[in-house]
Amino acid sequence: MGQGHTGLSDRRGVPVSYRNQDAIDGLDEAQEDSLAFSGDPVGRIDKVLEAHPGFVMGHLFKGAMLTQAMETRIYGEMVAALEAAEALSAEANEREKGHMAALRCWVEGDFFGAVQKWEAVLVHHPFDLLALQLVHLTDVLLGDVVGQRDSVARVFPLWDESVPGYEYVLGFYSFGLEETRDFADAEEHGRRALAIRPGHPYAIHAVAHVLEMQGRQAGGIWFLNSRKDDWAYGNFRNHLWWHLSLFHLDLKQIDQVLAIYDQELRGSGTSGDKYEELDSAALLWRLKLLDVDVGERWSDLADKWEPSATDTLYAFNDVHAMMSFVAANRKDAAEALLTANERYCDHASDANVAMSREIGIPFCRALQDFQDGRYGACVERLLPVRYRTHRLGGSFAQRDVIAWTLVEAALRARQFELALALAHERCGVKPSSPQNWTLVARAHKGLGNRSHAERAQARATSLLAA
Ligand SMILES: [Fe+2]
Repeated sequence: MGQGHTGLSDRRGVPVSYRNQDAIDGLDEAQEDSLAFSGDPVGRIDKVLEAHPGFVMGHLFKGAMLTQAMETRIYGEMVAALEAAEALSAEANEREKGHMAALRCWVEGDFFGAVQKWEAVLVHHPFDLLALQLVHLTDVLLGDVVGQRDSVARVFPLWDESVPGYEYVLGFYSFGLEETRDFADAEEHGRRALAIRPGHPYAIHAVAHVLEMQGRQAGGIWFLNSRKDDWAYGNFRNHLWWHLSLFHLDLKQIDQVLAIYDQELRGSGTSGDKYEELDSAALLWRLKLLDVDVGERWSDLADKWEPSATDTLYAFNDVHAMMSFVAANRKDAAEALLTANERYCDHASDANVAMSREIGIPFCRALQDFQDGRYGACVERLLPVRYRTHRLGGSFAQRDVIAWTLVEAALRARQFELALALAHERCGVKPSSPQNWTLVARAHKGLGNRSHAERAQARATSLLAA
């Protein structure tokens, strides 16, 4: 904003040092793909870079896209993109040097440092939608809940519908507002984004989160089903199918949950995309907590996780790998994951160490305890960390699996007073959840409070019927 530059710029007026409009247009299109969760943003920028190897912002875009995968298998490609950009640094403008510094932090394991560098770019260039996208999405990855909202708040008043991509800013803001429990504003911003662009999966996702957090299960099923054409074919479909399955799960519609798993989630993951396997594990573990027999599904999923058992790159992935290993009885893979993580925490100093040490490893061990029937030990591991789990990254809806595991373990450990307290807490946050009232009923039953148990069960039943 107000840079007074004389060179070229992207479609939002943000300065680009490379002097070829075709290359810049190609970058804009690749970024549009990324924002809309469609096509192949990296493939598209690769084509641009073939024709324009001196396009520094193109290399930086590619590297930035690869950061978000959180997988070791793309690490080499990410470093190569950064090095290609650094070799061109004499050509780069200040904004591009900021992106370069962020990417350098990232490849050195300083994810929080990278966010700060991208934030600094955004302060000078509030229409740098790439910087905003990276700050917001990395805040989600790292569990900076307030940052997810405030990174957008810092620039939001400067944007309006005349700036291309405004709907994406609305989508980011919607999600940030949802995670900070400002559900009414979140829904309004999300629906405004969808009024501009109905096929905007991130805004659909933000509204789905509002409906999930408010326990509007039937509304959530209707919302996602009625908009399937807008999300079921894009790159975000897997996670949105997972969200749809959560609504069915709360309503105890297990047949629909398994149908979604088998038709939409199970077949995926062939690309090796960890986000797909993560959603699959997150769903099967919830079914396990409900005592649903899922047959061979765990074994298939554990096969997909095994090659990355010792990656130690991202604790959030590791806990989902661990769910698969313990549930599929892959004791060697589970031990390999834990040993790798403990060794890594002793020697490394990158941003994932704290995530892994504080939440990742305790939760992994709690999962082993749960599987082996040591429910009391599972409770002891999870109680102290339950209010710090945001440090693991992901969303409240995703991390709820930890709190649900805790209350289920308390019930199975026959710690009914604790279970009742935890179940009450869940009802306070989401009183329209039949599953939450079922937990209350089970705790009361364990305590011998027959009339309370019947009342809670009646409430669950009436919510299911509604
Ligand atoms: Fe989500």
